[in-house]
Amino acid sequence: MRKQIVAGNWKMNKNYFEGIELIKEILKLLKDYPPKNFEYTHIIFGTPYIHLFAAAQLIKGDSRLHTAAQNCYTEEKGAYTGEISANMIKSTGTDFVIIGHSERRQYFKESNEMLAKKVNQALSNQLFPIFCCGEVLYEREKDNHHNIVREQLEEGVFHLDKENFKKTVIAYEPVWAIGTGKTATPGQAQEMHQFIRKMIEEKYNKTIAGETSILYGGSCKPSNAKKLFEKEDIDGGLIGGASLKADDFVDIIKAL
Ligand code: PGA
Repeated sequence: MRKQIVAGNWKMNKNYFEGIELIKEILKLLKDYPPKNFEYTHIIFGTPYIHLFAAAQLIKGDSRLHTAAQNCYTEEKGAYTGEISANMIKSTGTDFVIIGHSERRQYFKESNEMLAKKVNQALSNQLFPIFCCGEVLYEREKDNHHNIVREQLEEGVFHLDKENFKKTVIAYEPVWAIGTGKTATPGQAQEMHQFIRKMIEEKYNKTIAGETSILYGGSCKPSNAKKLFEKEDIDGGLIGGASLKADDFVDIIKAL
């Protein structure tokens, strides 16, 4: 069975103390109200860098709980003032890293070529990449969304060999649904997830396609999570806004 994952992406929110408090609150809720299928669910806290070490300590010992960085640099080390390497992230006890989020692509001009380097850095430092893809509204309206997502995957992750690809999680996040309150319908999301899985099958094989977790992201919240997660090819969510509230985040976990 492929992993079912709820990953929070805090983006640039929560100072150190607020962030640690949020994780504690979530852990308490999960303990007091254990969701039925917790055994099969993996929960990831995608925090700013400053929280990673302490967050990893808080969740230590529970193999269902993980931390993720929201980015890493393309190079191993050196004179890159202000950047953070995959190796530094790994040394905090973190095991995932989000790569290619649409905000990184849009505001920081990260190209597919740079993202492929980041994916390589992650994997060579034993971090699992959560690789994001997704089209802007204009491309969907032009009916070009499949081509965009195909190109992002071909250039960002399909250079990987089978063993490395198997360590990668894909997140489909239509850019028009991120932070807008406008969610893709379960049907729209399922259609793209199925398309992505088919591409993975063509590139690698049916087994690998069947085992790859593909998460949906974009205004996923307690009120719509269940309908999205019910779809065959949707294996969980990458959650922005709703991951900043303990109750909402736990309700989304319960929906899985
Ligand atoms: P949102 O963000 O849930 O706030 O739409 C999702 C994301 O950007 O990962």
